[in-house]
Parts: sequence; C-alpha cells; structure tokens
Amino acid sequence: MQMFRTTVFVTGGAGYVGSHTILVLLNAGYEVVAIDNFVNAIPGKDGSIPESLHRVQELTGKSLTFYKMDLLDKESLESIFSKHKLECVIHFAALKSVGESCQIPLDYYRNNIGGTINLVEVMKKFGVKNIIFSSSATVYGAPQYLPLDEKHPVGTSCTNPYGRTKYFIEEILKDVASAEKGWKVILLRYFNPVGAHESGKIGEDPQGIPNNLMPYISQVAVKRRPELQVFGNDFNTPDGTGMRDYIHVMDLAEGHVAVLKNLDAMKTCVAYNLGTGHGYTVLQVIKAFEEATGVKIPYTVVGRRIGDLGSLYADSSLAEKELDWKAKKSLVEMCADTWRWQSQNPMGFRGEIAAIQNS
Ligand code: NAD
Ligand code: UD1
Repeated sequence: MQMFRTTVFVTGGAGYVGSHTILVLLNAGYEVVAIDNFVNAIPGKDGSIPESLHRVQELTGKSLTFYKMDLLDKESLESIFSKHKLECVIHFAALKSVGESCQIPLDYYRNNIGGTINLVEVMKKFGVKNIIFSSSATVYGAPQYLPLDEKHPVGTSCTNPYGRTKYFIEEILKDVASAEKGWKVILLRYFNPVGAHESGKIGEDPQGIPNNLMPYISQVAVKRRPELQVFGNDFNTPDGTGMRDYIHVMDLAEGHVAVLKNLDAMKTCVAYNLGTGHGYTVLQVIKAFEEATGVKIPYTVVGRRIGDLGSLYADSSLAEKELDWKAKKSLVEMCADTWRWQSQNPMGFRGEIAAIQNS
C-alpha cells in the first residue's frame, strides 16, 4: 500500500459526507481541491470558503483549495483541471432528496447525470482517470435477498428518479472504463450515513425539513421539531418498523481513503458496499439515541412512507477483504456524535440565519 496520489479533486465538498471525507483526507496527508455550488450547503461568512470546510481546516490545522463552482459549468471546471495537477476525483456532488426528485425529475437528471458527464469529459481531456463515485444502496431497489452483496441485481427496481440517477451514473462510468484503457472507476454504495465528527464541529445540516431518520430525531431532540413520525410498524421486522444499516460518517469517510490507498491494485471498475452489516429498526434507533443522550424522543406511529422498504442491510465483506476497511463505530457512538453536533449547533452551520429561515 502506498500513498502517492497526492492531490484529490472533491466535488460537493461542502456537504455532509464531503466535509467529513476531506477532514480524513487532510489528516492522511492528501492535498485537496474542492468545489461546491452551495445548492445544499452553506457558504462561509466571507463567501470564500464554506463554513463546514472552514471548520475542517481548523480541526486539521491544514488548508485546502476551494472554489465555488457548479459542475454544469464546464469551462470553469476545465480551468481548475488546467491549474492543478489532479490525480483522483471523489465525486459527491448531487441532489439527493428522493421526494423532490419525483417532483422535479429533470432537474435531478440534469444536475446529477449532466454534472457527471461534464466532469468525466473534463477528466478525460486532462488525462485524469481515477474516480470514486458516491453511489447508494438505493441502486439495489427491493432486496431479493439479505444481506445485500455487490452481486445483487441493480437498477431493475429503483423506484424514484434520484435512485435512477445513481444507477444510470454507475452504468455510464462502467461504459467509460471499458471504452478506454487506464480508468479506475470505484463505485461506493453507501448504506445509511449518520453521525458526525467526534468534535461536534461538523455534521449533517439538511436544509428545510429533514427527509432522513437521524437528522429528524436530532432536530426533535434539540426541540426544532415537536415529535418524530415513525413511518409504519407493519413491516416484517422484529418490531414492525423499518430496518436499515446505519454507518458512522467517519467510518464512511475512511472508506474513501482506503480506496485511494489501494487504487493501484484495484480492478478497472468495481463496486463496494459500505455498511456495517447490522440492521437496526426505527424503534431501536430511537432507544439507542435516548440511551446515548439522555434525551427523550416523542414519537407517533403513522402510515408507511410511499416506496419505503422493510429491511436493508449490507454484506460489506468485499470492502473488508479488498480495501482492508471495516466500519468500527457502534450505533450508540453514531447517536452520541450526532447529538454532540446538533446540541452544539442547534441551527446547523447557519446559526441565527437558520433560526429566522426555519421559523
Ligand atoms: P450533501 O447534499 O450534504 O452534499 C452534496 C453537495 O453537493 C452539496 O454541498 C451540494 O451543494 C453540492 N452540489 C450538488 N450539485 C452540485 C453541482 N451541480 N455542482 C457543485 N456542487 C453541487 O449530500 P451528502 O449527504 O454529503 O451526500 C454526498 C453524496 O453521497 C451524494 O452524491 C449522495 O447522493 C450520496 N449518498 C448520500 C447518502 C446519505 O444518506 N447522505 C446515502 C447514499 C448516497
Ligand atoms: C432514504 C432514501 C434512499 C437513500 C437513503 C440514504 C427514501 C424513500 N429513500 O432511505 O433513497 O439512499 O435515504 O440517504 O427517502 N423514518 C421514519 N421517520 C422519519 C424518517 C424516516 O420512521 O421521519 C424511517 C423510514 O421509514 C426508514 C428509516 O426510518 O424505515 C430510515 O429512513 P431514511 O433515513 O429516510 O433512510 P432510507 O429509508 O434508507
């Protein structure tokens, strides 16, 4: 294992997974050039660097290069590639709300797929052929068996435009890798990222009403929302509520660095599940959160969310074997770290501004 791909280009770097991954990259000695258009992140006070990455610099004592830029702006993208010697791309930038993707599908296809095509064309032009793509367990659709391994069929039962963008991008990247020698395309299929850096200085900061369970729970805990709605208790799970494979965002971030360290030995195109292999139900998550924090989470059981699945959890043994990576952090740590971030930053990165906008 060697670490000589020094400069990594990160798209969507101001976001949740991007900011945590950049922190791990900087600590591991990589140089980082990041972009974000702030469609789902908060610009910094001075407009030059987002607040999340400002805090990453403080936490690591290292600096990175940041550009406010949209992936759809190909000319600006080219200017970055001509200015920096980039060895690898980690591509996080995407719109990611399932519900919104059903209302404005074309925006999702243009941003996620159009943005990726621009990126890959520019990479090709500048001879940068290593890309790590943020895919999702959503590509598997309804599981035919559990745990889900990478051989499980993908794409056939994706139920929404967001999920389809992930599937289509995987296919596009596979085609690119097989059309031309020299590409390394690594598809990382995340399960359910939660938690925050242990400092509590950075974390997940969804704009508007959270779609996902953990940020909703933490906003109830901090009293931004009165109670949690539990979507259905009639699934085929131990207590009837939905079961997912929650993975600490720092473990997930480490997974990206594990790929970089092993890139040379890797196949041209390969997919890895990043999860823990353990499923927890909604009620188990609520209980773990209450135990980790001492804060009671009021909830009401309501009907199922449209398109929701009963159980999803990963077989991540391929990543363990080939990347020498394994998720280490427990559900209680995920809850405790989420709470440290949320309680220290009740309104996220926007502080007072968020208080006004969310009221
Ligand atoms: P996020 O919204 O916090 O981060 C994505 C960032 O990309 C945002 O800061 C946004 O402003 C930026 N962005 C979007 N479109 C852009 C564009 N055209 N140009 C430049 N920047 C753009 O999301 P996240 O949770 O950090 O997710 C990162 C990636 O992981 C996404 O691709 C997401 O689909 C994928 N993913 C996330 C989860 C999850 O639960 N968080 C699960 C599976 C996969
Ligand atoms: C969601 C997305 C999926 C995406 C994944 C990770 C949907 C339909 N799917 O999946 O495409 O890849 O996030 O970002 O949005 N729950 C509640 N109350 C809530 C929120 C969630 O009970 O307020 C339940 C859900 O029914 C589910 C579990 O909590 O059983 C986890 O939900 P969530 O965090 O949204 O993740 P996914 O459903 O896995």
